[in-house]
Amino acid sequence: MNTCAASHAITAQNLSKAYGPIRAVRNIDLAVEYGRFLALLGPSGCGKTTVLRMLAGLERPDTGVVRIGDRLVSDAQVFAPPESRRIGMVFQDYALFPHMTVQENTAFGLNGDARRERERIHDVLSLVGLEGVKDRMPHELSGGQQQRVALARALAPKPDLILLDEPFSNLDAALRGRVRQDIRHILRTAGVTAIFVTHDQEEALSLADEIAVMIDGQMIQTDRPERLYRRPGSHQVATFLGDANFLPGQAAGDVVECELGRLPILEPLEGEVEIMFRPEDLLLKADDQGPGEIIERTYFGHDQMLIIRMDSATILKSRLVGCCQGLHPGQRVQVRIDTPIMAYPTRYGCPVV
Ligand SMILES: Nc1ncnc2c1ncn2[C@@H]1O[C@H](COP(=O)(O)OP(=O)(O)O)[C@@H](O)[C@H]1O
Ligand SMILES: [Mg+2]
Repeated sequence: MNTCAASHAITAQNLSKAYGPIRAVRNIDLAVEYGRFLALLGPSGCGKTTVLRMLAGLERPDTGVVRIGDRLVSDAQVFAPPESRRIGMVFQDYALFPHMTVQENTAFGLNGDARRERERIHDVLSLVGLEGVKDRMPHELSGGQQQRVALARALAPKPDLILLDEPFSNLDAALRGRVRQDIRHILRTAGVTAIFVTHDQEEALSLADEIAVMIDGQMIQTDRPERLYRRPGSHQVATFLGDANFLPGQAAGDVVECELGRLPILEPLEGEVEIMFRPEDLLLKADDQGPGEIIERTYFGHDQMLIIRMDSATILKSRLVGCCQGLHPGQRVQVRIDTPIMAYPTRYGCPVV
């Protein structure tokens, strides 16, 4: 047996899965360090659930290798069954047994000594804050509580890894934020490694240590949340991670010349580029002689989004925190960017080597 300590709780290399002509997952790689959370973020149908099912052993990959710690669990010859992988799963619909109490649901995956089992259930129900409702049936619980029962059941056998498939999608918006912070706290306290699937950018950005963006069966970028948001590797990732402004420009090393002037860029390029900046990067100042006009304002309470039409007909978005400082539709403005921005090579552009 290989006894060297692996730094990753799970690794997968070159995983692929097709269903007939549908190439659901194509050659993906992932690695999650012990105790860290990875989010698989992508639109519906991009292959997220299929990846989780292959990691859990519920689906056999067409190609690729999966290791849990230093155990090989899946390759061309080996295919360890789900029950031997020490993985806990939490599904979108929680899949609780309706005729069992909270306590019985939690005990479902345990099959050890009765006294130790009771202790473990007590511990795990305390961890998820459900000790007081342990004798209730699932229908007597709120959505958030049902979610925590599902988590308790997955954690009870002390798995090496927890996989969560769209765990918050059945909760209404008001509850979702609260429940996801609770779940993050519970998972951190338990010290487990987790991979969770979501199509919600905010959820991925606020919960994960790393995010892997999946589109059309492929993983197109994996990075820390801040980096992915500030330095998306492509136009496609930038728009998927939030609002973005794009403009054509001409790069010369670490600066770009564009309609808004000469701006520093984050990664050096030469030639034709497309620049990207977030609405919150675009600063506005009311000025009756300014080159743009506010044509729309949407107020969200914590911030507001302003749409600006430049005299050149370019449309820009600006997000402002706080009061509107006289910035309302019809007002002409000056626009400015103070932070280095991203740029992508277009047909005649290229990275500086
Ligand atoms: N058992 C299956 N049989 C046939 N096609 C499937 C099966 N499971 C998933 N697919 C297809 O594979 C693609 C990826 O599905 P899935 O992994 O469920 O995506 P996601 O979880 O990102 O929504 C979709 O086109 C889906 O229709
Ligand atoms: Mg899915």
